[in-house]
Amino acid sequence: MSEQAAVEAFRRKYDCDPDVIAIAPGRINLIGEHTDYNDGFVFPAAIDQRMYVAAKLAERESELRSMETGTAKPFDARTVNPGDVKEWAAYAAGMAWAIREAGYGEMPNIQAIVSGDVPIGSGISSSAALELAFGVLWVYLAKIEIPMPRLAQIAQKCENDYVGVQSGIMDQMASAMGREGKAMFLDTRSLDIEYATVPDHLTVVLCDTKTPRALTSSAYNERRTQCEEASKALGVIALRDADLESLEKRKQAMDPVVYRRARHVITEDERCIQFKAALEQDETERLGQLMLQSHESLRDDYEVSSPALDAMAEACWAAPGCVGARMTGAGFGGACVALVEIDQLEDFRNSVLPRYKEASGREGALTACQLSDGAKAVPGRKNS
Ligand code: GLA
Repeated sequence: MSEQAAVEAFRRKYDCDPDVIAIAPGRINLIGEHTDYNDGFVFPAAIDQRMYVAAKLAERESELRSMETGTAKPFDARTVNPGDVKEWAAYAAGMAWAIREAGYGEMPNIQAIVSGDVPIGSGISSSAALELAFGVLWVYLAKIEIPMPRLAQIAQKCENDYVGVQSGIMDQMASAMGREGKAMFLDTRSLDIEYATVPDHLTVVLCDTKTPRALTSSAYNERRTQCEEASKALGVIALRDADLESLEKRKQAMDPVVYRRARHVITEDERCIQFKAALEQDETERLGQLMLQSHESLRDDYEVSSPALDAMAEACWAAPGCVGARMTGAGFGGACVALVEIDQLEDFRNSVLPRYKEASGREGALTACQLSDGAKAVPGRKNS
């Protein structure tokens, strides 16, 4: 799907040009998983799979149609509240609500066509892409100004309090603040970003297991609660402030599951910092070790991997040209991320896909990603 497809569908439906086109990317995360709601470090990048919304102002209620998932029940964007709108349109309605809640006034009603190639449940955050697309769209149409990091926070509030998933800020920040050709080392406490370049000889590959995520929100929210329990036991504001030494000292007094959850977060923060240094120095062996350790920690201590994700990661590790690979995103299905030598990409692909199929019985899909700019709204008409 492309921007053009959304605009053409809009013209067919409404017989006019849209007032605005909003574009927002999905994200891939190189390392730093399940650290963001612990005030820790993450290393995502916005990618060239995006959501597009073509829209115009409307008199009455907001009407949304998705070219992939159908027509949503109309709602009044000016007054919409949590619980009013369900399924995919909740991300749109939730943004109108969250922007209003943040004190920027009522959002106008719209007629919109939504389209995109960020598949739902594949681990590249279609939800944040939708939130940011509607975020920039409403900011444009309401003629207000909201700095992008603030809009990312508002989108997180939409996800937490409208949709009901207690996610961190990583996906929204990546979709809002991505930069072409760059990954972003993000401190989720201060929201400081250091943009980083992936060495020229490497490419970032999204390795889709083609297994939809299951049980995500309940298992995700449960992990978050366990992390809060661990912080309390360790006497810190967030696990970002804890270290392995103090964790080991408290081990006997802690629930063993909570202990392992904390061990993942503490070691993952450290791996994320080390990954940044290794990327700067182009130390490919080190990058690979850190990604391997990250996957193992997510599989064994955090227990968010799945047989398909393990099969995909193992297929990557065994393939020619693979510098490193691990599951990416929340887990429980979805995708792995791999760093691959560009000149061996074909050999990598030819090795991974059959091996993954043999282990899982499924056809996976590999996509080399371009690292991309964050969300933006552009005028839908030349003279607007
Ligand atoms: C999901 C959430 C993010 C983050 C990741 C795991 O993508 O939306 O906030 O917690 O899972 O790292």
